[in-house]
Amino acid sequence: MIIEPRMRGFICLTAHPKGCEQNIINQINYIQAKGPIDGPKKVLVIGASTGFGLASRITSAFGYDAATIGVYFEKPPKDGKTASPGWYNTAAFETEATKAGLYAKSINGDAFSNEVKQQTIDLIKADLGQIDLVIYSLASPVRTNPKTGVTHRSVLKPIGGSFSDKTVDFHTGIVSEVSIEPANEEEIENTVAVMGGEDWEMWIDALKSENLLADGFTTVAYSYIGPAVTEAVYRKGTIGRAKDHLEATAFTITDKLTEVNGKAYVSVNKALVTQASSAIPVIPLYISFLYKIMKEDGIHEGCIEQIQRLFADRLYVSDVVPVDEKGRIRIDDWEMKPDVQAKVAELWKNATTETLPETGDLAGYKKDFLNLFGFDVDGVDYQADVNEMVEVPGLV
Ligand code: NAI
Ligand code: NA
Repeated sequence: MIIEPRMRGFICLTAHPKGCEQNIINQINYIQAKGPIDGPKKVLVIGASTGFGLASRITSAFGYDAATIGVYFEKPPKDGKTASPGWYNTAAFETEATKAGLYAKSINGDAFSNEVKQQTIDLIKADLGQIDLVIYSLASPVRTNPKTGVTHRSVLKPIGGSFSDKTVDFHTGIVSEVSIEPANEEEIENTVAVMGGEDWEMWIDALKSENLLADGFTTVAYSYIGPAVTEAVYRKGTIGRAKDHLEATAFTITDKLTEVNGKAYVSVNKALVTQASSAIPVIPLYISFLYKIMKEDGIHEGCIEQIQRLFADRLYVSDVVPVDEKGRIRIDDWEMKPDVQAKVAELWKNATTETLPETGDLAGYKKDFLNLFGFDVDGVDYQADVNEMVEVPGLV
C-alpha cells in the first residue's frame, strides 16, 4: 500500500517501513564510519526500538560487534494498518545485524512486568550466558508495578505553583501561552513510580540473582536536566522528581554490584525530538531554538551522534568514566554551553508565531518528528507500493 502520515495530536498514527529502514541504515553507516573500538560484547537494551535506546543498540552492535537483545513495546502491523515505528526499526536493525553476522534477538512486551523480565532471563541463559552492559531507556506514561499490581500514570506538571510560559504547536507553528496547574502529592508519587529508578533496580536485581552479570558489568540509564526556561515544568516538575529518583538509584545499584566489580551510571543526554519529548509542553519550542543555534555552531547531534560519543568518549575511553560532581555522565555538555544557552534565552524572549520560522528551527523539528515515523526521509520513494506486513527476524 501507499503509506502517508496521519497525525493525531502529538503522535502519528502511521509509520513507513522503508523510511524506518533508511533511518536504521543511516545510523549504522554513521557508526561504522567511526571504526571499531574495544567495548561491550553482550548487551541488553531495555527500550531498544526508538530514540536513545535504539541508538544504543545500533552503537553496541555496529560499533563493537556486540550481541544484542532488545526489549520494547511496539504494535505489530495488522492487515491494512501499519506497525508502530519501533517495530519497523527493529525489523530493519535485526535484518542488518544478521547480515553482518551479529546476534540480535528481541522481546516485544511490557518491560515493567515479571513475565518479560523472566523471558529475557531465559533468553540470556540460553544464548549469551552473561551480559556486560544493560542500557535502560524506557519512556512510558504508565507502569503497573508487578509487586503491588497498582497501575501508576505519570503527569508532566510543575510542583509547588502553577506555571505559565510560551509553547509551540509544532504542526501549526502557532506560539501560545500555556498554563499548567501544579501536581498534587499523589501525582508526584505516580510519576516517580513510572519514570524513576524502581524498575531499573528490579531489572538489575533479577539479572543478578540469576548470575547473569559479567565481571566489570555496567548499566546506564538516561536522564535530562535542561535550561532555566524548561526548569519549572521539567527538572523541578514531576518528571524531574522521577529523574532525581533515577539518579539516586544509580548509587543504590552500584552498591549491589561490588561482587561483579560493576557500576551503574546515569547519563544526562541532550534534548532531542523523540516520541517521548514531543509530548512535553514547552520542550518543542526550546528544541526549535536549540537546534537552530547548535546547527549554526556546527555542534548539533541526534541520538546516534550522542550515543556514539557516550560510548567512545565516556564509557569505554579508559578505566575512569568522567562524571560530574553528582556522579553523572554528561553528554548534554554542548547543549549546556553558556553561549548556546544565552542565545536560546534571548530568542525565547521574542518568540512569537510570526518570528519563530526565522528565529527557530521549526522546519528541522518537523522533519525530525516525521522522520521518527519513517516519513520525509531523504532517498525514500513514498509513491512506491510497500508491504506493511513486515516481520521482526529476531523476535522471540
Ligand atoms: P522513546 O519514546 O524514543 O523510546 C522509548 C522506548 O521505550 C521505546 O523503545 C519503547 O518501545 C519503549 N517502551 C515504552 N514503554 C515500554 C514498556 N512498558 N515495555 C517495554 N518497552 C517500553 O524515548 P527516548 O526519548 O529515547 O527516551 C528514552 C530515555 O531517554 C528516557 O528516560 C528519557 O527521559 C531520556 N531522555 C530523553 C531525552 C529527549 O530529549 N528525548 C533527553 C534526555 C534523556
Ligand atoms: Na529509547
